Amino acid sequence: MKSYRIALIPGDGTGPEVLREGVKVLDTVAGTYGLRLNYETYDFGGERYLRTGETLPDSALEELKKFDAIYLGAIGHPDVKPGVLEVGILLKTRFALDQYINLRPVKLYPNVETPLKDKGPEHIDFVVVRENTGGIYTGVGGVTMKGMAGEIATQVMIYGRPVVERCVRFAYEYARRRNRKKMLTLVHKSNVLTYCGDLWVRVHKEIGDREFPDIKQDYNHVDACTMWFVKQPEHYDVVVTENLFGDIITDLAAIIQGGLGIAAGGNINPGGVSMFEPMGGSAPKYTGKNVINPLAAICAGGMMLETLGEEAAAKAVDRAVTDALLTGKIRSLAAGKMGMGTREVGDLVASMVK
Ligand code: IPM
Ligand code: MN
Repeated sequence: MKSYRIALIPGDGTGPEVLREGVKVLDTVAGTYGLRLNYETYDFGGERYLRTGETLPDSALEELKKFDAIYLGAIGHPDVKPGVLEVGILLKTRFALDQYINLRPVKLYPNVETPLKDKGPEHIDFVVVRENTGGIYTGVGGVTMKGMAGEIATQVMIYGRPVVERCVRFAYEYARRRNRKKMLTLVHKSNVLTYCGDLWVRVHKEIGDREFPDIKQDYNHVDACTMWFVKQPEHYDVVVTENLFGDIITDLAAIIQGGLGIAAGGNINPGGVSMFEPMGGSAPKYTGKNVINPLAAICAGGMMLETLGEEAAAKAVDRAVTDALLTGKIRSLAAGKMGMGTREVGDLVASMVK
């Protein structure tokens, strides 16, 4: 029997509630597909920070490196200054474990409402590959004359060719494996970012021409892309982009697939330890009320299985989510409006596992 070691980080607010349902579905799938999932739980998050002043100690990072994957609920606490936990836990993990891909499937499931008029599941099914450790997120820059009239601050977009190449290559490979339109759209702003943008454009073309002649090359400026995501989402298959642009367009993408109740993401190191999470935050006001939607966490669990190479089990999660939605019993994805509780949604999905 194949077995995997999974580190659970339930985190803050509603994180533990949604992760519990994700684990419920994963365990059901594991039972059906002959896998063993061994979990170990870590208490990183706002509570621990407030108690101990520690976000993610270096020793914990060393421990996390020994797992097959990390499954995260949510990080964010109303009493902690914004940025502390994001930088101290999320970004630190991405950097330290070299999770250089942020994978965001954008799929409209049946019976899920999209704000896009006249669009259905047949129109919204693409994947964004966001570069996840470089660019402006590297934190290079500085400030001078702070607080004075002439204050100057910089935050630098940094990209080395190897960092761009590994991301673009991953995206091409993903487009090939996905085997749909076989098209990779590069999103950047090459008309203004004449150094970084140009590097991405050249790498996209070079790698495409040389290694992936079977994949069509496509390009959007990022501003135009935000219009096309809304007007013509059916155009897209796989999208690759740099870190900050990816951060922004994946939130836009999340809302067209029905919102944070369903949007899942993976922070992936293809040769190392990856971390999977629902895109929604810790939603403090809903904590402990059994009203938050666990579907995003469940979908993140499915992505985790896919990345671990358990394709059949991953597909089973996706099918179970689809079938649960097809029953029509989940009335809305919004917290408190589902017509059932967090646990009950988890039970429903688990009962659909085949
Ligand atoms: C995301 C989040 C993070 C990011 C924040 C919390 C640091 O918005 O995963 O998209 O900007 O990458
Ligand atoms: Mn974001």
